[in-house]
Amino acid sequence: MNIVNGFKFIPGSTYIKGLPDHSHARFHNFYESQLRPDPYASVRDRGMIKLIYDRPSQQVRKNENQNYFQSYSANDSDGGRVRVFAPISDELVTDSVFLHILKGDAHYINKYCHRAGVDILNISVHFIRYRAEEGYASFSSPVWLHLDDEPLVFIHLIDLTPNAIGADSVISGMDSKPTNVLRLQKPFDTLIVDRTKKHAVTPLGSSHGTSYRDVMLVNVEAEVQQK
Ligand SMILES: [Fe+2]
Repeated sequence: MNIVNGFKFIPGSTYIKGLPDHSHARFHNFYESQLRPDPYASVRDRGMIKLIYDRPSQQVRKNENQNYFQSYSANDSDGGRVRVFAPISDELVTDSVFLHILKGDAHYINKYCHRAGVDILNISVHFIRYRAEEGYASFSSPVWLHLDDEPLVFIHLIDLTPNAIGADSVISGMDSKPTNVLRLQKPFDTLIVDRTKKHAVTPLGSSHGTSYRDVMLVNVEAEVQQK
């Protein structure tokens, strides 16, 4: 379904509008407190919570089911199996910064609800920290250009350290020839992707010390993922 013509970049300054000072720093602290080593990859730290979004009230609540499933066709690294990640605290559901960001996403989520003819949606929120020591690399799963199962994904940058090498977002058509390269680098810089174009993020290296790319994904889940 075409929601954003494949992809749309929204500057973090747009998301930050209306938030009190230090909101980003406070949220970043919360974010870091929730990260745990990814049981499926030593180069990442993660946390996840699944929510239910009710479009008429635009409210979210925690989902009973906290397993994460991707089909093999969407992820040849980790697809085809259920993954369980460290839980993000229920506090997220009432966190004012998170709710503000989600309000920024709601325009597109509601558009999807309208098109799909649904009022209640499953949303998964992932905290993913890519972590690279100098001389090593971190990378995403799946590693290169792909379509997600999710009809709509919001990639919100929480932090990219200045010593990061790579970590560029790449967009392509279905022929996998890149058409756009962009970089999430300021707080809350956001890339929205749908299933009408492919996307990837290049591996993360470090010029010195340890580099981090901290993102929060807000995923609208598809029917195939309800396991
Ligand atoms: Fe993806």
